[in-house]
Amino acid sequence: MAQFRTLPGFREFYPEEFARKSRLLAAWRAVARSYGFCEFEPPVLEQLELFTEKSGEEIKSQLFEFVDKGDRAVAMRPEMTPSLARMVGARAGAIRRPVKWFAIGENYRYERQQKGRLRAFYQYNADILGESSINADAEIISLLVDSLRVFGLDQSHFRVRLGDRTLWVLFLQSMGVDDARMVGVLSVIDKLEKVSREALREMMDAALAGSGVSAAGLIADIETLVQIRSIETLGQFLEQKCPGNPDIPSRIKDWNALIDLLGGLGVDKFISVDMGIVRGLAYYTGFVFEAFQIVGSGRALAGGGRYDNLVGKLGYQPMPAVGFGMGDVTVSDLLELVGKLQSDDFSPQVYVVIGSENLRKEALDVVRRLRAQGVRVDYPLKAAGFGKQFKQADAVGATYAVIVGLDELNAGAVKVKNLRTAHEYTVPISSSDLASEILK
Ligand code: HAM
Repeated sequence: MAQFRTLPGFREFYPEEFARKSRLLAAWRAVARSYGFCEFEPPVLEQLELFTEKSGEEIKSQLFEFVDKGDRAVAMRPEMTPSLARMVGARAGAIRRPVKWFAIGENYRYERQQKGRLRAFYQYNADILGESSINADAEIISLLVDSLRVFGLDQSHFRVRLGDRTLWVLFLQSMGVDDARMVGVLSVIDKLEKVSREALREMMDAALAGSGVSAAGLIADIETLVQIRSIETLGQFLEQKCPGNPDIPSRIKDWNALIDLLGGLGVDKFISVDMGIVRGLAYYTGFVFEAFQIVGSGRALAGGGRYDNLVGKLGYQPMPAVGFGMGDVTVSDLLELVGKLQSDDFSPQVYVVIGSENLRKEALDVVRRLRAQGVRVDYPLKAAGFGKQFKQADAVGATYAVIVGLDELNAGAVKVKNLRTAHEYTVPISSSDLASEILK
């Protein structure tokens, strides 16, 4: 019979892989909670339009979409941000602000097969809604950095490239790009590093068609802008390109203030000024950022930014927002590359060795009492000799073997062997705190 395989881009997690993923997600949860974020969860399946209208062209082409048995056009979530915006918008009156929420779950994108990109991947999202000041941007960027530092990663492993859609829009407006063409031009800029010069030129021609703006001239300025690495030079270039526009110096002030706040939070050294970061998703409005590994393949670890219009566009009272998403695939690949991949250890602490089959009931009583005290306990499901049981205790990774044998029971005790140190001792079976007497 033909054997079934997993679908391309879908993983199955055997226990060892699950233990590594579980460790990753637990670390993210702990960091997010240390920042005062609360966990939430959106549905996996949503109305198709939530994503076709809100996420943008690229994601639209990658949707796992179908018509359900009730004739509804639906899609598996490719991201969580539109659902978050709806959940917060729908209860805006009742939710405490600022809303600091995080979520961890699987997302689905029908991506072209490539290293680091799967069709089902876990993503950790953290977002702040209801706060428009850069204090929220700083808090989010700091959380992003700490969510990578928690694994022992540092400046030699990753950087956060910081761009700004607000400055792009100001610049493009003064170059004559109108609102209707703005998102199109921004998504071409987002492709700058990914496509050839000719392809870029063609895309820009198409995005500017009918506007009278020269693609060649604009591309030359864009190429200069994305090379700039200091706020001062950025300000000088833009003030020269958009003379007399008071919004430019005021935005440059925001840049300096944001870097200052990031300094206060101890993460400014991870940040590079980089207008090459525009972000592919349609809803971003202000500062945008992406974390890249700077060892190995240089892939994106996380991305995010400000999206002040999304809640309003879903039909609710407008609410400013900023957040990021971080994937499990590239982060675990990086951790493996630099030797920092760890696993959760859920192996049993205690293995109960049954001295002889007619003592199974007494042994089960010990098992039950230890489990009730929160100890992870395993024991043989089949009659087996001592040697085999000790082997199994080792194999499952237990630290202690607790032997329930006739001589010990007659003396009102169980024997304990620490399998790491070979130290042996007896513990009274009637002890009211069996767990701490055994685990010492
Ligand atoms: P995104 O840039 O599409 O942003 O995804 C963020 C991260 O998710 C990426 O940097 C990558 O680590 C991971 N990721 C995305 N697609 C895949 C894939 N096919 N396979 C493996 N990993 C992937 C968003 O999704 C935004 N919703 C983030 C956000 C939250 N913005 C504001 N709040």
